[in-house]
Amino acid sequence: MRSDANIAGPMTDPVPGPRTESSFGEDVSRETPPPMDDTPIGRAAQLAVEALGRAGEGLPRPERTRVIVVANQKGGVGKTTTTVNLAASLALHGGRVLVVDLDPQGNASTALGIDHHAEVPSIYDVLVDSRPLAEVVQPVPDVEGLFCAPATIDLAGAEIELVSLVARESRLQRAIQAYEQPLDYILIDCPPSLGLLTVNALVAGAEVLIPIQCEYYALEGLGQLLRNVDLVRGHLNPDLHVSTILLTMYDGRTRLASQVAEEVRTHFGEEVLRTSIPRSVRISEAPSYGQTVLTYDPGSSGALSYLEAARELALKGVGVSYDATHAHIGAQNNPNMVEGIQ
Ligand SMILES: Nc1ncnc2c1ncn2[C@@H]1O[C@H](COP(=O)(O)OP(=O)(O)OP(=O)(O)O)[C@@H](O)[C@H]1O
Ligand SMILES: [Mg+2]
Repeated sequence: MRSDANIAGPMTDPVPGPRTESSFGEDVSRETPPPMDDTPIGRAAQLAVEALGRAGEGLPRPERTRVIVVANQKGGVGKTTTTVNLAASLALHGGRVLVVDLDPQGNASTALGIDHHAEVPSIYDVLVDSRPLAEVVQPVPDVEGLFCAPATIDLAGAEIELVSLVARESRLQRAIQAYEQPLDYILIDCPPSLGLLTVNALVAGAEVLIPIQCEYYALEGLGQLLRNVDLVRGHLNPDLHVSTILLTMYDGRTRLASQVAEEVRTHFGEEVLRTSIPRSVRISEAPSYGQTVLTYDPGSSGALSYLEAARELALKGVGVSYDATHAHIGAQNNPNMVEGIQ
């Protein structure tokens, strides 16, 4: 057990009593209140949770580690932004969360402030050289309970190198299964393609989260992703399903955004989170400071909407109905909350 292991926090167990799932350490206390982060950034982020008025309310912990694949082969729809901000939100809600950066661009590693120059041990070593995941995972500065397996530029060659390797589709799955640290969530940030890297993610996870940008052509190409999910479920991973759709870059001022949202909701129904993410300057600025929006500007509509989406995701995961009072926090019905026109 690592010394930084600490999953004490406002998340509460849906079922009291010791956890039977082996992936959770029995030496981890769930009774202790969350340690207040002693860095200014950590404290500010903690305030964001409190801004929602529910810091002490507690969120249910999943009974076992939820492995969530954030995928959409369309580029620039908000996969990375969603991965890092949801992960940080879940950690701020008290969860213990690992982000696996599976994109050679390494954007998730950058956004989390994780060093990922070419010599850093990375997810490439895990996939291609069977290095244990524990040897590449780094704690994320400023967010208690958040960890990252970084991607380096080496990963660009992995799509090709994997082709000739044994069990080329299930190398990430094996690495995750062998990872012994207790985790509530693993979020995997996929590249904008459906190659072997994304297939590795789909084999490793049970849930697919598809971010959909509220723009024209939002649904284009989704059929291909859904067919791939079906193929992987049929041949390699019977548990795989699309559990969550998240509407991103929602601009409450445009009719197009609400039309796209309506179309997505008609098409997917229950899988679509009630919370959508507003288009927000703060969200797009945060990565250049190596931060998530949760630490960069905790009170912004972007930060609050990701916190709310995380809450909805956590509640859905344990079958607890979600009170959507705050689902519109991200400006859906309140265009004044869109930064820039306040
Ligand atoms: N809610 C938002 N408001 C404003 N800008 C956003 C928002 N979400 C994402 N962006 C910006 O849009 C761009 C694309 O987002 P992101 O990198 O998360 O997409 P992606 O799907 O991971 O892209 P890729 O396919 O290249 O991996 C980034 O510059 C990001 O900062
Ligand atoms: Mg990305």
